[in-house]
Amino acid sequence: MELHFKIYRYDPQVDKGPYWKHYKVAAEPEERILDCLNRIKWEQDGTLAYRLSCGHGVCGSDGMRINGTCGLACQKLVQDYQCPEIVLEPLPVFKVRKDLIVDMDSFLEGIHAVKPYLISSHRGDKEIPQTVEERKKVDAVIRCIMCACCTASCPVMHYNNKYIGPAALVWAYRYIFDSRDEHVAERLRQVDDPNGAHACVNHFECTRVCPKGIPVTKSINLTKKLIRDTFHKD
Ligand code: SF4
Ligand code: FES
Repeated sequence: MELHFKIYRYDPQVDKGPYWKHYKVAAEPEERILDCLNRIKWEQDGTLAYRLSCGHGVCGSDGMRINGTCGLACQKLVQDYQCPEIVLEPLPVFKVRKDLIVDMDSFLEGIHAVKPYLISSHRGDKEIPQTVEERKKVDAVIRCIMCACCTASCPVMHYNNKYIGPAALVWAYRYIFDSRDEHVAERLRQVDDPNGAHACVNHFECTRVCPKGIPVTKSINLTKKLIRDTFHKD
């Protein structure tokens, strides 16, 4: 089948502003949008810029907006886009570096700020045991691949650029609810902030777009509940 692509192009170092470029690509229904992008780049236009690495939904590199919805180009099948034109844009919210590549620095800094690692006084070569129930609490969120689709899709991010964002809150949740972590109170205090967990107003866009099926909004709401139960009981 022949597909028509309309792709956002912008090189801030050269172009006065963004523009659209159109391409036609032959593809099989079971191929992915990423295969089409590769074909465009390798056979038609080597100047097109986008990120990719694993090609299999593991690295989180190729998040972009596909027909208005954020997702991974390597996870989206051609057969699911029965439309006259497939529109590809960079992830919204972030600054464009070139074409479909955005600047991820602020996104990664937000995750780094919540200390995305276990803090424990435990030393030695013995494991810290967890029950099945304890482990279940973090089963879903450990799947996060930091693709930024949730944060880019969040309507709050569009009017509040101080909001830490859903991905950073997923990482905060990941350690707040880890039975082995010893800094839960500090972690909760950090996200007990108008630009932390409380900035979320339950749009659920993050949950809808997450390519790993993480219940992002639910995680944020459970964090808010724990904040209430810990600090604001009365
Ligand atoms: Fe991507 Fe989902 Fe992680 Fe958000 S929570 S960064 S959408 S994998
Ligand atoms: Fe790695 Fe798509 S290229 S997630």
